[in-house]
Amino acid sequence: MNQSDSLSVLAAAQAAVDAPWYVRHLRLLGWVREIADLTKPERVLWCDGSQAEYDGLCAEMVAAGTLTKLDPAKRPNSYLARSDPSDVARVEDRTFICSAKEEDSGPTNNWRAPAEMRKTLAGLFDGCMRGRTMYVVPFSMGPLGSHIAHIGIEISDSPYVAVNMKLMTRMGRAVFDVLRAEGPFVPCVHSVGMPLAAGQRDARWPCNKEHKYIVHFPETREIWSYGSGYGGNALLGKKCFALRIASVMGRDEGWLAEHMLILGVTAPTGEKTYVTAAFPSACGKTNFAMLIPPKALAGWTVTTIGDDIAWIKPHADGKLYAINPEAGYFGVAPGTSYESNPNAMDTLKANVIFTNVALTEDGDVWWEGMTKTTPARLTDWQGNQWTPDSGRKAAHPNARFTVAATQCPSLDPNWDNPDGVPIDAFVFGARRGDTVPLVVEAASWEEGVYKAATMGSETTAAAAGKVGEVRRDPFAMLPFCGYHIGDYFAHWLKMGKAVAAPPKLFNVNWFRTDENGKFAWPGFGQNMRVLQWIVERCRSRGHAVETPLGLEPAYGDLDWTGLDFAPEKFAAMMKADHKLWVRELAAHDELFAKLGDKRPAALSAERARLGARLSAAP
Ligand code: GTP
Ligand code: SPV
Ligand code: MN
Repeated sequence: MNQSDSLSVLAAAQAAVDAPWYVRHLRLLGWVREIADLTKPERVLWCDGSQAEYDGLCAEMVAAGTLTKLDPAKRPNSYLARSDPSDVARVEDRTFICSAKEEDSGPTNNWRAPAEMRKTLAGLFDGCMRGRTMYVVPFSMGPLGSHIAHIGIEISDSPYVAVNMKLMTRMGRAVFDVLRAEGPFVPCVHSVGMPLAAGQRDARWPCNKEHKYIVHFPETREIWSYGSGYGGNALLGKKCFALRIASVMGRDEGWLAEHMLILGVTAPTGEKTYVTAAFPSACGKTNFAMLIPPKALAGWTVTTIGDDIAWIKPHADGKLYAINPEAGYFGVAPGTSYESNPNAMDTLKANVIFTNVALTEDGDVWWEGMTKTTPARLTDWQGNQWTPDSGRKAAHPNARFTVAATQCPSLDPNWDNPDGVPIDAFVFGARRGDTVPLVVEAASWEEGVYKAATMGSETTAAAAGKVGEVRRDPFAMLPFCGYHIGDYFAHWLKMGKAVAAPPKLFNVNWFRTDENGKFAWPGFGQNMRVLQWIVERCRSRGHAVETPLGLEPAYGDLDWTGLDFAPEKFAAMMKADHKLWVRELAAHDELFAKLGDKRPAALSAERARLGARLSAAP
């Protein structure tokens, strides 16, 4: 083809999908055409990521009733969205890993044969965008152009998704400068699954009440999501791409995609340490990432790099380096207050999209735990009048805020560094009312991998289903690992040898309860005392004692300045109850039994060692 022929091919491909002149990627244009032919939208809109586009989409959603504009004096440029009551959280039982071979998806994922799933999707997506606008949303996970970053294109018929993606990712026109004519991207197709007939009035929150499918094809690195408009089901850069697909990329390429916050700790000496921490959904990552140390621990500060996802790669200097692939927070609102998380509250002063929180009479937002006094009258998350004696929650327990990371007062100067930051500690946390101590350090990489792999946690409102049931949640990745969990454990064992100076591994539990069922540990800012010990251990300074569970601080090894916490209370927080640990080990074994021949020998050895140590303990 001569130059003028190829220019006219490009022009035709652009014209077929109303693409702007700067999209010069023929394969991408062809894919958008293919999806438009399948889904049959009324029009195609290419998002450029500008503020004008964001404001315009929000104004349209206000007119449509999807968004309510909050009082501009109290909460400038902010909105409230109320979802359909059937669409409030991730749907794990509707999430599928469609690897070519079933054994590559493993015992913790739902598998369907790719050909069968493609047939199902072809039926569901046929005409599913009728009467709607199809948004083409270009985004980068990670700083634009960084060697660690990856690009995705999300096609969605939800304007709510488009505006949330602007806050959560590097979204917009600049992505095409990186992609150019042939660059790689992960194709993400999303539909709320509610086509509109001619003249049909739209729902406030369109979704499909009967059919939901959150589908991943790991080999071809594709994502298809149908029927939900909420959070991780619909913002496909987050769990679908940055965890499920990226974990497969990491397995194949020698890196890690993890459900981890990233924070920096600066000691009074000025020495800086970076730490990541994996906690299951709604178990305290945002709070820990934005922690403000108690005043009594003068000179210690914590800075925030990310609150949900880390991509971690070996670096030439022998350490693992982490980036936050996201650019915003999709955080749990309930429980967030000036007492529990002042940095989050300050982040939320303006330019926020709130979803499923309550509305105050003066046009602001409220949720359980936000203030000491409960407002006398509210509009609840479903739009009904609410008073404190209504007998129901004003905000949904999984109500969320979406906000750009740049608004966070504790944002780390390196948050956008394309090379990431060197990690010295991996912390694994779970929500356990009993059994698991406040903090313990693993004596070796293998011991730490065993503990992370066998972690159990009480379920939360972040996923549809029962709340408060202990389940195994390996590495806090149970719903997010895109391949066989046994292969994932093996990959982690290997990564400890991929660098000369791997991080130390720790387990924490902020959620142990006392004999009255109350949290035994003050938590939140006070978690600094544990973090301080972790950092000191990484610097080979902190003191620890050997116990059957690993290396633990004695009472005197933590800095108690300014906190009245008796040694007996600490002992209760650290106690390994023999009966409970017999039950705990049985739960480990149950998980391991599911792995078959993918159970790594090194973890069987760790299981035997732990069992022996616990039975030898007095
Ligand atoms: P996802 O965004 O769902 O991945 O979760 P996350 O881990 O970021 O959740 P988040 O930090 O928003 O956790 C919120 C829940 O954890 C709320 O119920 C908080 O009250 C609770 N929480 C956070 N930190 C602490 C703590 O130190 N102690 C106690 N008791 N609760 C905590
Ligand atoms: C989680 O559930 O772990 C979240 C929220 O971070 S969502 O994006 O909805 O998955
Ligand atoms: Mn999460």
